[in-house]
Amino acid sequence: MDRSPHSRTSDAVSHPGRAAHAPEGPVPVALVTGATSGIGLEFARALAADGYHLVLVARTLARLEETAEVLEDEYGVPVRVLTADLAAESGIRTVTGFLDRERVDVVVNNAGYGLKHSVLRTGPADLVALDRVLNSAVQQISWHAAHRMIERGRGGIVNVVSMAALTTMGAYAAAKSAALVFTENLAAELADTPVTATAVLPGFVRTEFHDRMRVDMSTMPAIAWVAAHQVAREGLADARAGKAVSVPGLQYKLAYLLAQAVPRPLLRGLSNGFRFRRLRRPARPGPHS
Ligand SMILES: NC(=O)c1ccc[n+]([C@@H]2O[C@H](COP(=O)([O-])OP(=O)(O)OC[C@H]3O[C@@H](n4cnc5c(N)ncnc54)[C@H](OP(=O)(O)O)[C@@H]3O)[C@@H](O)[C@H]2O)c1
Repeated sequence: MDRSPHSRTSDAVSHPGRAAHAPEGPVPVALVTGATSGIGLEFARALAADGYHLVLVARTLARLEETAEVLEDEYGVPVRVLTADLAAESGIRTVTGFLDRERVDVVVNNAGYGLKHSVLRTGPADLVALDRVLNSAVQQISWHAAHRMIERGRGGIVNVVSMAALTTMGAYAAAKSAALVFTENLAAELADTPVTATAVLPGFVRTEFHDRMRVDMSTMPAIAWVAAHQVAREGLADARAGKAVSVPGLQYKLAYLLAQAVPRPLLRGLSNGFRFRRLRRPARPGPHS
């Protein structure tokens, strides 16, 4: 369901003193999709700490409202919420329409999820929905944001992709790979403008992501994990540095380099050999689980 954006704090006081990393000029605004949990929430926190006024996007209004209240209390910045299901064209239009109407200086395309089953055990409609959220929404939102930012002479687009984009692991990897290539090309097209595009490639991050997929991560070694706040912090630092690709965490920087050198058939073999262990217990209850 799409709803009009509504400001929770039209009379809220901003804290420009916190805007140490924010661009010069009017108080900057950041829009973050999938901002109610995990990596998106940490991007929202990091941007609020830098003085950005926020627009949070997700499907669940109650959770958006709750998150907005927490961030307003913690950082003293106004937070607006936008309900949109990015698996639907109408939901994507809700966000692109907002970008066409309102000034947004930073867009973080972060919303996403993984399939609960293999490609062949997933229905075609669910494959389309996954591709919309992870790829099509990212492309359309980036396109609208880039044009408006070029007109205003400033802006940054941060697309949360995944290390999975470097593998052949299912429809998730396929959609993330498309979003990665799209972002790398966008960064090149924007090279002689004041606008940047950055793809962030997290490895494994403890969020609700794996729980929603009903997979067992208990045997994953400690070195495989990167903290969500580290992903946000490094992602934003790399975006500010104008990098096209950001790989948070030393272990994943190394893995990223190795992946460039691994022959494709070997990469395919490694990808085919990787399987999540599925949990028997029901997934975390949610409106779309
Ligand atoms: N966790 C990892 O290990 C990991 C690794 C690499 C990349 N990533 C990527 O990082 C991003 C964030 O994942 P996370 O780990 O932070 O997951 P998470 O904790 O499950 O958070 C997902 C967020 O996306 C929103 N969302 C999900 N489906 C949506 C839809 N159809 N339309 C709009 N919003 C939607 C959720 O809110 P609602 O449910 O209310 O909509 C929530 O705010 C994703 O793109 C994921 O692919 C994660």
